[in-house]
Amino acid sequence: MKNVKIDWEKLAVKEAYYSVTTNYKYRNENLSDEVKDDFFIEAKQYTERLLAVIRDHLVKDFAPKRILDFGCGVGRTSIPFSEIAEEVVAADISENMLKEAENNKALRGADNLKLMQTGSDISNIPGRFDFVHSLYVFQHIPASEGRKIIGQLLDKLEDGGVIALQVLYANELSCVKRVSYWLRVNIPGVKKILNLLRRKPWNAPMMQLNNYPLNSVAADLREAGCRHFYSRYTNHAGYKGLFIFAQKTRLGEENVTDLGEIP
Ligand SMILES: C[S@@+](CC[C@H](N)C(=O)[O-])C[C@H]1O[C@@H](n2cnc3c(N)ncnc32)[C@H](O)[C@@H]1O
Repeated sequence: MKNVKIDWEKLAVKEAYYSVTTNYKYRNENLSDEVKDDFFIEAKQYTERLLAVIRDHLVKDFAPKRILDFGCGVGRTSIPFSEIAEEVVAADISENMLKEAENNKALRGADNLKLMQTGSDISNIPGRFDFVHSLYVFQHIPASEGRKIIGQLLDKLEDGGVIALQVLYANELSCVKRVSYWLRVNIPGVKKILNLLRRKPWNAPMMQLNNYPLNSVAADLREAGCRHFYSRYTNHAGYKGLFIFAQKTRLGEENVTDLGEIP
C-alpha cells in the first residue's frame, strides 16, 4: 500500500485531472476554468445516471442523505454528490489529491463535503452511510488489500443502504505485457529499470491495474448482508470491469421476492 500512496502522490502533482480520467482533454496543458467546469458538468451527469440505475434496478425512491465517496481524487463525483445529500464524506489515500479536492470544494461552495485521508484502515471515517460509492479506485489497490477495504466499506453501510462499487476482473493485455506488469509490481527494482528503458525518470509513478476475483467479491457482499445485486459491465481500453450495485438487506426484512423452491 505504501507504493500505491507514493505513486498517487506523484500522479496528483504531475497530472491530477488526467490521472483520474485518463482523458487527454484534462491534461494540465488543456486545463482552464471552462475545462474544469466541463469536468464537473460531466461528473454531475454521471452521478445522475448512476442514481437512475439504482432507482430502476434496486431502490425505487433512492435519495441518499449521507454519502461516502471512497477514493475521491480531486472531488469529481464528491462535489455533485454534495448537491443532493445532506453530508458527503470523501476519502483518499493521497494528500495531494485531497489538496486539489479542497480547492474544488471551496470554489464550488460544497460546504457539506468533508475530505479525509485514509490508508489500508478506514476506521477513521465516522459513522455509517446510506450510499457508498467508489469509481476507478480498487483497480489501483492490490486485490488482497482491496478486499479488506471493501469489507470495511460494507460495514459502514446502513441497513437498506446501497453500495456502488467498480472493480476490474480481466484485461486484454498480451502475454508479454502481463509478465512485464507483474514484474514491475512484484519484483523490487524492475519498475525503475523499465522506466529508464522507456526513457522515463527512474522513479516515474506507475498506475496499478489489478483484477479482483469476482467469486470472492460476491461472497464478501453476501457475508455483509447484501442479498441481491445488480451489475453492469465496464470496458476501459481493454480493461474489463463490473460496476456492482448492491443493497444491504434491512434487518429483519427480506426485501427481495423469494424465488422459493427452484425446480
Ligand atoms: C483514477 S483515480 C479516481 C478518482 C475518483 N474516484 C474519480 O473517479 O474521479 C483513483 C484514486 O484512488 C485513490 N486511491 C488509490 N488507492 C487508495 C486507497 N488505498 N485508499 C483510498 N484512495 C485510494 C488515488 O489516490 C486516486 O485519487
